[in-house]
Amino acid sequence: MPVNPLVISARGVDTWLGDQQILFGVDLDVAAGEVVALLGGNGSGKTTLLRTLLGLIPHQSGVIELFGRPVDRFRDWSRIGYVPQRGRLQVANATVDEVVMLGRLARRRPFHLPGSADRTACDEALARVGLTGLGRRPMSHLSGGQQQRALIARALAGRADLLVLDEPFAALDVRTQTSLARLLGRLHEQGLTILIVLHELGAMEPLLERSVVLQLGRVIHDGPLASGPPLDDCRTPECTDIGRVLQPPLAPLGEGAN
Ligand SMILES: Nc1ncnc2c1ncn2[C@@H]1O[C@H](COP(=O)(O)OP(=O)(O)O)[C@@H](O)[C@H]1O
Ligand SMILES: [Mg+2]
Repeated sequence: MPVNPLVISARGVDTWLGDQQILFGVDLDVAAGEVVALLGGNGSGKTTLLRTLLGLIPHQSGVIELFGRPVDRFRDWSRIGYVPQRGRLQVANATVDEVVMLGRLARRRPFHLPGSADRTACDEALARVGLTGLGRRPMSHLSGGQQQRALIARALAGRADLLVLDEPFAALDVRTQTSLARLLGRLHEQGLTILIVLHELGAMEPLLERSVVLQLGRVIHDGPLASGPPLDDCRTPECTDIGRVLQPPLAPLGEGAN
Protein backbone atom coordinates (compact mmCIF):
# COMPACT_ATOMS: atom_id res chain seq x y z
CA MET A 1 0.00 0.00 0.00
CA PRO A 2 1.49 3.35 -0.96
CA VAL A 3 1.87 5.71 1.97
CA ASN A 4 1.57 8.85 -0.12
CA PRO A 5 -1.66 9.93 -1.79
CA LEU A 6 -2.20 8.72 -5.33
CA VAL A 7 -1.68 11.26 -8.08
CA ILE A 8 -2.83 8.77 -10.73
CA SER A 9 -5.25 5.95 -10.13
CA ALA A 10 -6.58 3.88 -13.02
CA ARG A 11 -8.76 0.80 -12.70
CA GLY A 12 -9.87 -1.51 -15.46
CA VAL A 13 -9.25 0.98 -18.26
CA ASP A 14 -10.28 -0.04 -21.78
CA THR A 15 -9.46 2.31 -24.64
CA TRP A 16 -10.53 1.89 -28.23
CA LEU A 17 -9.14 3.87 -31.14
CA GLY A 18 -11.52 3.57 -34.06
CA ASP A 19 -12.66 -0.03 -34.18
CA GLN A 20 -9.54 -1.36 -32.48
CA GLN A 21 -9.26 -2.01 -28.76
CA ILE A 22 -5.84 -0.75 -27.67
CA LEU A 23 -5.94 -1.00 -23.85
CA PHE A 24 -7.45 -3.93 -21.97
CA GLY A 25 -8.40 -3.53 -18.32
CA VAL A 26 -5.34 -1.49 -17.38
CA ASP A 27 -4.75 -0.80 -13.68
CA LEU A 28 -2.11 1.75 -12.73
CA ASP A 29 -1.45 3.65 -9.52
CA VAL A 30 1.22 6.29 -9.12
CA ALA A 31 1.74 7.72 -5.65
CA ALA A 32 3.10 11.20 -4.92
CA GLY A 33 6.88 11.18 -4.96
CA GLU A 34 7.31 8.04 -7.03
CA VAL A 35 9.36 7.62 -10.20
CA VAL A 36 7.65 4.99 -12.35
CA ALA A 37 8.85 3.70 -15.72
CA LEU A 38 6.30 2.55 -18.26
CA LEU A 39 7.91 -0.01 -20.54
CA GLY A 40 6.72 -2.08 -23.46
CA GLY A 41 7.43 -2.89 -27.07
CA ASN A 42 6.45 -0.64 -29.96
CA GLY A 43 2.70 -0.52 -30.31
CA SER A 44 2.06 -2.00 -26.85
CA GLY A 45 -0.08 1.02 -25.96
CA LYS A 46 2.22 3.20 -23.83
CA THR A 47 1.42 6.48 -25.55
CA THR A 48 -2.27 5.58 -25.70
CA LEU A 49 -2.22 4.88 -21.97
CA LEU A 50 -0.60 8.24 -21.16
CA ARG A 51 -3.08 10.07 -23.37
CA THR A 52 -5.96 8.18 -21.81
CA LEU A 53 -4.77 8.89 -18.28
CA LEU A 54 -4.57 12.59 -19.09
CA GLY A 55 -8.04 12.66 -20.62
CA LEU A 56 -6.69 13.52 -24.08
CA ILE A 57 -8.54 10.56 -25.54
CA PRO A 58 -11.65 8.95 -24.06
CA HIS A 59 -11.71 5.56 -22.38
CA GLN A 60 -14.61 3.22 -22.94
CA SER A 61 -14.64 1.61 -19.51
CA GLY A 62 -12.82 1.81 -16.21
CA VAL A 63 -12.16 4.60 -13.75
CA ILE A 64 -9.36 7.17 -13.86
CA GLU A 65 -8.61 9.64 -11.08
CA LEU A 66 -6.02 12.40 -11.09
CA PHE A 67 -5.07 13.80 -7.69
CA GLY A 68 -8.14 12.08 -6.28
CA ARG A 69 -10.63 13.51 -8.77
CA PRO A 70 -12.28 11.71 -11.68
CA VAL A 71 -10.44 12.71 -14.84
CA ASP A 72 -13.57 14.20 -16.45
CA ARG A 73 -14.00 16.54 -13.49
CA PHE A 74 -10.32 17.30 -12.98
CA ARG A 75 -9.53 20.97 -13.61
CA ASP A 76 -6.11 21.54 -12.07
CA TRP A 77 -4.21 20.83 -15.28
CA SER A 78 -1.24 23.01 -14.39
CA ARG A 79 -0.35 20.38 -11.77
CA ILE A 80 0.52 18.00 -14.61
CA GLY A 81 3.34 18.56 -17.05
CA TYR A 82 3.06 16.39 -20.15
CA VAL A 83 6.13 16.04 -22.33
CA PRO A 84 4.85 14.24 -25.44
CA GLN A 85 6.79 11.93 -27.68
CA ARG A 86 8.97 14.03 -29.94
CA GLY A 87 7.63 14.52 -33.42
CA ARG A 88 4.13 15.14 -32.14
CA LEU A 89 4.88 18.70 -31.21
CA GLN A 90 4.40 21.40 -33.84
CA VAL A 91 6.41 24.12 -32.21
CA ALA A 92 9.51 24.40 -34.37
CA ASN A 93 8.89 28.08 -35.14
CA ALA A 94 7.99 29.07 -31.60
CA THR A 95 10.67 30.50 -29.37
CA VAL A 96 11.66 28.75 -26.17
CA ASP A 97 9.98 31.54 -24.18
CA GLU A 98 6.72 31.05 -26.05
CA VAL A 99 6.75 27.33 -25.39
CA VAL A 100 7.57 27.74 -21.72
CA MET A 101 4.89 30.43 -21.39
CA LEU A 102 2.33 27.87 -22.58
CA GLY A 103 2.87 26.24 -19.21
CA ARG A 104 1.32 29.31 -17.63
CA LEU A 105 -1.87 29.22 -19.68
CA ALA A 106 -3.86 27.19 -17.18
CA ARG A 107 -2.83 29.61 -14.44
CA ARG A 108 -3.51 32.88 -16.24
CA ARG A 109 -6.75 34.79 -16.32
CA PRO A 110 -8.39 34.33 -19.70
CA PHE A 111 -7.55 36.99 -22.32
CA HIS A 112 -4.88 38.62 -20.19
CA LEU A 113 -1.32 39.04 -21.36
CA PRO A 114 1.39 37.37 -19.32
CA GLY A 115 2.27 39.38 -16.23
CA SER A 116 5.43 39.66 -14.19
CA ALA A 117 4.54 36.55 -12.15
CA ASP A 118 4.34 34.59 -15.40
CA ARG A 119 7.64 36.03 -16.60
CA THR A 120 9.31 35.15 -13.29
CA ALA A 121 7.90 31.61 -13.37
CA CYS A 122 9.23 31.11 -16.91
CA ASP A 123 12.68 32.45 -16.05
CA GLU A 124 12.84 30.26 -12.96
CA ALA A 125 11.75 27.24 -14.98
CA LEU A 126 14.42 27.90 -17.62
CA ALA A 127 17.03 28.22 -14.89
CA ARG A 128 15.95 24.94 -13.28
CA VAL A 129 16.48 23.07 -16.54
CA GLY A 130 19.74 24.86 -17.38
CA LEU A 131 18.46 26.93 -20.32
CA THR A 132 18.93 30.42 -18.93
CA GLY A 133 19.53 32.89 -21.73
CA LEU A 134 18.08 30.73 -24.49
CA GLY A 135 14.51 32.03 -24.21
CA ARG A 136 14.57 33.91 -27.51
CA ARG A 137 15.88 31.03 -29.58
CA PRO A 138 13.46 29.23 -31.87
CA MET A 139 12.84 25.69 -30.66
CA SER A 140 14.16 24.41 -33.99
CA HIS A 141 17.59 25.88 -33.20
CA LEU A 142 17.94 23.83 -30.03
CA SER A 143 19.52 20.41 -29.79
CA GLY A 144 17.28 17.43 -29.04
CA GLY A 145 18.28 17.46 -25.37
CA GLN A 146 17.65 21.19 -25.08
CA GLN A 147 14.22 20.77 -26.65
CA GLN A 148 13.34 18.18 -24.03
CA ARG A 149 14.55 20.57 -21.34
CA ALA A 150 12.40 23.36 -22.76
CA LEU A 151 9.36 21.07 -22.66
CA ILE A 152 10.16 20.16 -19.06
CA ALA A 153 10.51 23.90 -18.31
CA ARG A 154 7.04 24.42 -19.76
CA ALA A 155 5.72 21.95 -17.18
CA LEU A 156 7.70 23.55 -14.37
CA ALA A 157 6.48 27.04 -15.30
CA GLY A 158 2.96 25.87 -14.51
CA ARG A 159 4.25 24.59 -11.14
CA ALA A 160 3.49 21.00 -12.10
CA ASP A 161 4.02 18.40 -9.41
CA LEU A 162 3.53 15.46 -11.76
CA LEU A 163 5.72 15.06 -14.84
CA VAL A 164 4.54 12.63 -17.52
CA LEU A 165 7.20 12.04 -20.18
CA ASP A 166 6.85 9.94 -23.32
CA GLU A 167 10.21 8.53 -24.46
CA PRO A 168 12.16 11.70 -23.68
CA PHE A 169 15.47 10.01 -24.46
CA ALA A 170 14.58 8.90 -27.97
CA ALA A 171 17.25 9.94 -30.48
CA LEU A 172 19.47 11.52 -27.81
CA ASP A 173 23.10 10.50 -27.46
CA VAL A 174 24.19 8.78 -24.26
CA ARG A 175 25.78 11.88 -22.73
CA THR A 176 22.68 13.93 -23.32
CA GLN A 177 20.53 11.14 -21.89
CA THR A 178 22.68 11.06 -18.79
CA SER A 179 22.45 14.78 -18.18
CA LEU A 180 18.69 14.75 -18.79
CA ALA A 181 18.34 11.85 -16.33
CA ARG A 182 20.34 13.88 -13.78
CA LEU A 183 17.95 16.79 -14.28
CA LEU A 184 14.99 14.48 -13.68
CA GLY A 185 16.75 13.16 -10.57
CA ARG A 186 17.10 16.69 -9.21
CA LEU A 187 13.46 17.45 -9.94
CA HIS A 188 12.45 14.25 -8.18
CA GLU A 189 14.51 15.25 -5.14
CA GLN A 190 12.67 18.56 -5.21
CA GLY A 191 9.39 16.67 -4.89
CA LEU A 192 8.15 15.96 -8.40
CA THR A 193 6.40 12.71 -9.18
CA ILE A 194 7.53 11.22 -12.49
CA LEU A 195 5.83 8.79 -14.86
CA ILE A 196 8.15 8.13 -17.78
CA VAL A 197 7.82 5.98 -20.89
CA LEU A 198 11.17 4.45 -21.72
CA HIS A 199 12.43 2.32 -24.53
CA GLU A 200 15.19 1.07 -22.28
CA LEU A 201 16.11 1.80 -18.69
CA GLY A 202 19.50 3.28 -19.59
CA ALA A 203 20.46 6.43 -17.75
CA MET A 204 17.21 6.40 -15.75
CA GLU A 205 17.89 3.09 -14.05
CA PRO A 206 19.41 4.50 -10.84
CA LEU A 207 16.37 6.73 -10.37
CA LEU A 208 13.71 4.15 -10.95
CA GLU A 209 11.82 2.51 -8.14
CA ARG A 210 9.18 0.69 -10.09
CA SER A 211 8.37 -0.39 -13.59
CA VAL A 212 5.10 -1.18 -15.28
CA VAL A 213 5.31 -3.25 -18.45
CA LEU A 214 2.63 -3.21 -21.13
CA GLN A 215 2.23 -5.93 -23.71
CA LEU A 216 -0.46 -5.72 -26.37
CA GLY A 217 -2.41 -3.28 -24.23
CA ARG A 218 -2.27 -5.26 -20.98
CA VAL A 219 -0.15 -4.75 -17.87
CA ILE A 220 2.09 -7.80 -17.55
CA HIS A 221 4.35 -6.52 -14.77
CA ASP A 222 3.99 -3.92 -12.05
CA GLY A 223 6.63 -3.92 -9.36
CA PRO A 224 10.17 -3.14 -8.33
CA LEU A 225 12.97 -3.12 -10.83
CA ALA A 226 15.19 -6.11 -10.41
CA SER A 227 18.74 -6.40 -11.62
CA GLY A 228 19.34 -8.42 -14.72
CA PRO A 229 20.83 -8.25 -18.17
CA PRO A 230 20.39 -5.09 -20.24
CA LEU A 231 17.06 -4.80 -22.01
CA ASP A 232 18.35 -5.33 -25.48
CA ASP A 233 20.04 -8.54 -24.43
CA CYS A 234 16.83 -9.93 -23.03
CA ARG A 235 16.14 -12.32 -25.83
CA THR A 236 17.09 -15.60 -24.28
CA PRO A 237 14.76 -18.15 -22.69
CA GLU A 238 16.42 -17.77 -19.30
CA CYS A 239 15.71 -14.06 -19.26
CA THR A 240 12.56 -14.11 -17.18
CA ASP A 241 13.17 -10.93 -15.26
CA ILE A 242 10.11 -9.28 -16.67
CA GLY A 243 10.60 -5.97 -14.88
CA ARG A 244 13.53 -5.22 -17.11
CA VAL A 245 12.33 -6.47 -20.43
CA LEU A 246 10.46 -4.75 -23.19
CA GLN A 247 8.91 -7.94 -24.46
CA PRO A 248 8.54 -11.30 -22.75
CA PRO A 249 11.40 -13.66 -23.49
CA LEU A 250 11.27 -15.04 -26.98
CA ALA A 251 10.51 -18.72 -27.36
CA PRO A 252 13.57 -20.96 -27.37
CA LEU A 253 15.08 -21.16 -30.81
CA GLY A 254 15.55 -24.91 -30.56
CA GLU A 255 18.22 -27.38 -29.50
CA GLY A 256 21.59 -25.81 -29.04
CA ALA A 257 20.35 -22.24 -29.41
CA ASN A 258 21.62 -19.73 -26.91
N1 LIG B 1 -5.10 7.16 -33.84
C1 LIG B 1 -5.06 5.83 -33.88
N2 LIG B 1 -6.05 5.10 -34.45
C2 LIG B 1 -6.00 3.74 -34.46
N3 LIG B 1 -5.00 3.03 -33.91
C3 LIG B 1 -4.00 3.70 -33.34
C4 LIG B 1 -3.97 5.14 -33.27
N4 LIG B 1 -2.84 5.52 -32.61
C5 LIG B 1 -2.20 4.38 -32.27
N5 LIG B 1 -2.89 3.29 -32.71
C6 LIG B 1 -2.51 1.89 -32.50
O1 LIG B 1 -2.55 1.65 -31.11
C7 LIG B 1 -1.54 0.74 -30.74
C8 LIG B 1 -0.74 1.33 -29.60
O2 LIG B 1 -0.05 2.49 -30.06
P1 LIG B 1 0.79 3.39 -29.08
O3 LIG B 1 -0.03 3.69 -27.89
O4 LIG B 1 1.31 4.53 -29.87
O5 LIG B 1 1.95 2.39 -28.66
P2 LIG B 1 3.39 2.67 -28.05
O6 LIG B 1 3.43 4.08 -27.55
O7 LIG B 1 3.56 1.65 -26.97
O8 LIG B 1 4.37 2.44 -29.17
C9 LIG B 1 -0.73 0.47 -32.00
O9 LIG B 1 -1.18 -0.77 -32.52
C10 LIG B 1 -1.11 1.60 -32.92
O10 LIG B 1 -1.06 1.16 -34.26
MG1 LIG C 1 4.61 5.71 -28.00
